[in-house]
Amino acid sequence: MSKARDLFKAAQKAMASAHATYSKFPVGAALLTDKGTIFAGCNVENASYPEGWCAETTALAHMVMAGERRIVEVAVVASKMPLITPCGGCRQRLKEFGTPKTLVHLCDAKGVVETVTLGELLPRAFDLKPKKGRPRRRA
Ligand code: THU
Repeated sequence: MSKARDLFKAAQKAMASAHATYSKFPVGAALLTDKGTIFAGCNVENASYPEGWCAETTALAHMVMAGERRIVEVAVVASKMPLITPCGGCRQRLKEFGTPKTLVHLCDAKGVVETVTLGELLPRAFDLKPKKGRPRRRA
């Protein structure tokens, strides 16, 4: 069964932690992994505007640091937008760990407004075959 409601709540809670000092546009995101874990994140801005990063990126970093790699569902929420879609860069970052079938729940302040797939959000995505073998260690 879809965990859309749980993901929405986790994203909304994360949004409360946003450091959106410059845009005043707090965003929250939450990821559900194939192991059933939920990782959430907020956007984090800084005085050098382009160096800030998105809520989805924070959530992805939490997931990777916890040793998980597969996303099955995502929720994104922004209190100031009736329906937020992930930015282009985040679509590519989500694609790294999802599949075209990964569900992306687009939310407003009350809950899920629309559910789309990652394949719909990022058709014909850029892809590289991962290199085989162990990563080489630098001297
Ligand atoms: N933002 C996100 O956190 N996720 C998105 O998918 C779109 C944009 C953030 C970045 C920036 O802190 C603020 O929203 C305004 O662009």
